[in-house]
Amino acid sequence: MTFLTRREHFSASHRLYNPMFSDEKNFEIFGKCSNPNGHGHNYYVEVTVCGEVAADTGFLINLEILKKILKISFIDKVDHKNLNSDVEFLSNINPTSENIAIACWNQIESQIQKYCKLYSVKLFETEKNFVEFRGNVK
Ligand code: NI
Repeated sequence: MTFLTRREHFSASHRLYNPMFSDEKNFEIFGKCSNPNGHGHNYYVEVTVCGEVAADTGFLINLEILKKILKISFIDKVDHKNLNSDVEFLSNINPTSENIAIACWNQIESQIQKYCKLYSVKLFETEKNFVEFRGNVK
């Protein structure tokens, strides 16, 4: 099994907030991440795919194809956006790192499956924190 990872960057703003909670409870759980006007992050996302290397090309997946899937279906939709209000696939989702990683997976998985297997999506919100999603356990 061979693994290949593509790293991309995007900048976006968000506010962590659950409308079911009171303002006090939101602040208690999310702290300054729940400040009403939001704040920004320089995010990195790492998408890892896996499978067998093709004998004829020597590729697991053509990187141009992987780049294009990630750019069109995820990066272009979140870069320089407000994740609470500007992104259709995040509507009514609290934009935590966990939920952004899962949403990225859902945006790209079916397209990657045509070539190889999506193994993981890592979402880095800061230098110190990242989330890794490896799909739903079946
Ligand atoms: Ni934040």
